[in-house]
Amino acid sequence: MKLFGLTGRKFSLTACFLMLSLLMVACGSVNTGTGSTPAPVAAAGKGCTKIGVLLPETATSARWDGSDKPLLERLIPQNLSGATVDYSNAEGNADTQLTQAESDLTKGDCILVVAPVDSVASAQIVAKAKAQNVPVISYDRLIQSSDLAYYVSFDNVAVGKIQGQYIADHYKDFVTTGHNNIVMVNGGDTDNNAHLFYQGAISALQPLYDAKTLTKVYDKFTPGWDNPTAQNEMDGALSQYKNDIQIAYVANDGMANSVIASLKAQKLNGKVLVTGQDATAAGLQNILTGDQAMTVEKNFLLEATGTAKLVAAISQGTDTSSLTNGATTATTSGAKIPSVLEVPVAIDHTNFQQVITDGVVTKADVCKGLPKTAKYLPAGFCA
Ligand code: BGC
Repeated sequence: MKLFGLTGRKFSLTACFLMLSLLMVACGSVNTGTGSTPAPVAAAGKGCTKIGVLLPETATSARWDGSDKPLLERLIPQNLSGATVDYSNAEGNADTQLTQAESDLTKGDCILVVAPVDSVASAQIVAKAKAQNVPVISYDRLIQSSDLAYYVSFDNVAVGKIQGQYIADHYKDFVTTGHNNIVMVNGGDTDNNAHLFYQGAISALQPLYDAKTLTKVYDKFTPGWDNPTAQNEMDGALSQYKNDIQIAYVANDGMANSVIASLKAQKLNGKVLVTGQDATAAGLQNILTGDQAMTVEKNFLLEATGTAKLVAAISQGTDTSSLTNGATTATTSGAKIPSVLEVPVAIDHTNFQQVITDGVVTKADVCKGLPKTAKYLPAGFCA
């Protein structure tokens, strides 16, 4: 065979030579570059043992101080020997949180775990950390920054869907013809989670609204998840609708407890389907007395463990793909943040003991101060 005047064997030899030369040029262009090799940048967080943990609030949910703080303080050093945790809580103030982060960076904290007060404003924390080559793990609430290292949370749309679906499955026990009003007391507007919970809840409830099976009469985000504000909201809705409310979608247990106080004042507790989230001891007590229908268990132990393992992997420079399993979460700018997302569980009086078995609350805390006559308390459970 003759091609371009070369015989078969000569052609293949020439072709090989040409390809080799091309490959060498190609490789050369990678290696030679423009001459000066940039100084190697230390992988962010490598070798770090000073971990800053910044949580957002104490008053909006018992979880932050009662579960997340002690778990992270215990699990981070347990997974990374020699690690110390520098803890701060911003008490609902985004400016305070920024100052706390700056102070952590000044002290030399080299990995930050941040549950933001404000999902957008906290991008500044990530920017300041990045300037010092400090990676940030967004904890529970997503920070809207494309520079995040990781995000650890639950599937938060699923959380809202569990709440909404519970209403869809149980509203018939609470509504009668002509009395089918529902209020929605949503979470804090600056918390990305509040929007995800809402999205999930609406996905289950909208068909019932469309069919006029349920009538939505009130629907508000509660600034800063403030529990007393939730009580005012419920007071207002009850007075506006002359107590004709059958269902209260409430985004978490803390606000549900306030909504129940409002219902108690009208002797309506137990007669209105109230939802919640976090499976707190107080939330479970409200379920056992029959004042709250359900809550969502988010096993904080899993969330804190996932975080502690990522901290250890960042510090040790080990592969994190077995922790994230390829999961990512998109920020509003479209960045895909490698994520660890745990699965939430629906809880009501039929399976409340699972929360105790999982170690999210203790039996002692659930039983403390709970009347022995509580409607759904199994006989002898708190003996
Ligand atoms: C968390 C909830 C918590 C709420 C108020 C949300 O971001 O996911 O667990 O109840 O904030 O603190």
